[in-house]
Amino acid sequence: MLESAAVMARFIDDLQRTHYCGELRASDLGKEVVLFGWVAHRRDFGGCVFLDLRDREGIAQVVFDRTYTPTGEVSRITALAARGEAFWDSTVADSAQQLAEEVRREWVIGVRGVVVHRGEKNVNPRLGTGEIEVRVAEAVVFNRAETPPFSVEDEIATDEDIRLKYRYIDLRRAPLQRNLRMRHEVNQTVRSYLSDQGALELETPILCKYTPGGARNFLVPSRLNAGKFYALAESPQLFKQLFMMSGFDKYFQIVKCFRDEDLRLDRQPEFTQIDIEMSFVCQDDIFRLLEGLMFRVFEKTGAADLKAHYPSGEFPRMSFAESVRRFGNDKPDLRFGLELTELTELAIAHDGGGLPLVKAITDSFKSGAYRLEVPAEIVKAFVIPASANFSRPQLEAFEKSLREIKGFKGLARAKVADGGAWTQSPLKTVTDEFRLAVNAALGVSDGDVICFQFGKTDVVNAALAKLRLDVGKKMGLIPESGHGGQWRLLWVVNPPLFEQNEDGTWAAAHHAFTRPVDEHVALLDSDPARVLCYRYDLVLNGFEIGGGSIRLHDPDVQQKVFSVLGIHEESAKNMFGFLLEALRSGAPPHGGIAIGMDRLTMLLSGGSTLRDVIPFPKTNQGVDTMSGAPVVVAPAQLDELHVAVAASADPAR
Ligand code: AMO
Repeated sequence: MLESAAVMARFIDDLQRTHYCGELRASDLGKEVVLFGWVAHRRDFGGCVFLDLRDREGIAQVVFDRTYTPTGEVSRITALAARGEAFWDSTVADSAQQLAEEVRREWVIGVRGVVVHRGEKNVNPRLGTGEIEVRVAEAVVFNRAETPPFSVEDEIATDEDIRLKYRYIDLRRAPLQRNLRMRHEVNQTVRSYLSDQGALELETPILCKYTPGGARNFLVPSRLNAGKFYALAESPQLFKQLFMMSGFDKYFQIVKCFRDEDLRLDRQPEFTQIDIEMSFVCQDDIFRLLEGLMFRVFEKTGAADLKAHYPSGEFPRMSFAESVRRFGNDKPDLRFGLELTELTELAIAHDGGGLPLVKAITDSFKSGAYRLEVPAEIVKAFVIPASANFSRPQLEAFEKSLREIKGFKGLARAKVADGGAWTQSPLKTVTDEFRLAVNAALGVSDGDVICFQFGKTDVVNAALAKLRLDVGKKMGLIPESGHGGQWRLLWVVNPPLFEQNEDGTWAAAHHAFTRPVDEHVALLDSDPARVLCYRYDLVLNGFEIGGGSIRLHDPDVQQKVFSVLGIHEESAKNMFGFLLEALRSGAPPHGGIAIGMDRLTMLLSGGSTLRDVIPFPKTNQGVDTMSGAPVVVAPAQLDELHVAVAASADPAR
């Protein structure tokens, strides 16, 4: 068995790798090669062993054949002749043969051999290396792997928890290798494009000051400052603004951000942003830069030629209000239609149309308790076309999956029959006039199913937005996951600056440093609900892949925004004193954006979760299954950090 340190050293130090397995081609015929890799498959035909040797570039077939002796061209290979070694030494070949008989999947080996043609009938057109094979003259085992917990194949049914526990093996699979390469390509493209555009790559601190609002922070106790905590940066927001005040003009960073949020397929607690900030710019300048970046990233990753989709070089824009009205959210998937229809005004005109739940809402408008500009409750509908031909259980399944939406109460349906009648519907008391007016507004015909939502605006929109997507997928208008070869990008612009809390107070919908649109500054005092701002999101196939804003740099307007938020001078100073001072010390107008790099890569690669593109991700419980993090630490460590674990959270109890 060839496994001595000397033989390993011979391969690594002297012979050295000549090629990656996956890059060998017919043009390499007759070459002597040295390959290193993992044994993917082994087939033994009594005396003749075929191994598929895998490395990051792909697979090469290597052959150990007891009966083989090099002849003709092959016997004349003289690459080692300078050292007085022959290509073929039968003693060495014999021990290589022994190795081949013993070797198992995922062992790491090295081979020296010659590239020969497989013979026409053995060519595998699905492999880049499918025309050739390597006849082995010498081999070494670098590492004997234990039997792997699952096969390293493209498609495996293994539970994700197991795959994450052995992530280093999972990552050997070709789809993940491809995804992470794409990640590399995205990063490289971003760096070179933004640097070419004059942006400076500068870093910002990860250990920051905690500020309320925004995403929930992870806290880090300070050993040197007893009882005090850092927050892990949820984004470099304030620091990148400070860069503008420091005169750097154009900045970017590919940066890790940390958010202690509830996790979903498109959310991880640690994720990466492509973060950008620029001075003396308007929204259009930022859009131009980002559009150029997206064109380049799509091209370099081979995802698509965006010119074919957006010949002007610009992505379309839609106001936040229009997006919510037509699609129920601010990240519409434009790969298919099936839009929602607002029926509130129609319902008001029909005084509730004979439907008690609807009348309760229309009465509130009539009494002035609700306003159409910012309605607290609405009436809205979505139509499932007759062509979908869904069964009743299927319709019920849609409704069931909407129950995950907080506040969702149920989905009132009506199947349109002959003459516009509503059948299979709980809405028995509807007046004929309202029914016909609704049918006309929705443009429905026989067999269509109308799905109604009435109630709290957010719940209605969230439910119908989800229903639209679920139906679109079930109808095959979009794939369950992945892009299906379609790319729809959209800027969603000018959302409201504030959100109203349950208790009537106001919170910043994004953050307190977003600039209100100029015409709405006057509304800050009188009607905060209607103040829109210069914020924008970039949406790709129904995912928010980025968001940003033009920032407030005028201290007077800033003061007004703070007073709407109920942040008084003293607390503003405590929270963001350093930024406020900087804003008064020579602040250029500025704005920026951050792209969710993992989300973008997930969509480009056709993946369905961020875990497909993050090398070492966390589960939805925020756990690293491989290392076991987070873990309990020794009491002495906690003492050193001046931290005590609450009895209720102590796993030892
Ligand atoms: P925002 O909070 O919108 O903006 O974040 C920007 C983008 O980051 C991605 N993202 C996430 N990706 C994975 N996991 C998460 N938990 C997660 N959270 C956000 C999204 C999102 O669009 N400082 C501002 C940007 C700015 O105003 O310049 C910010 O962080 O794709």
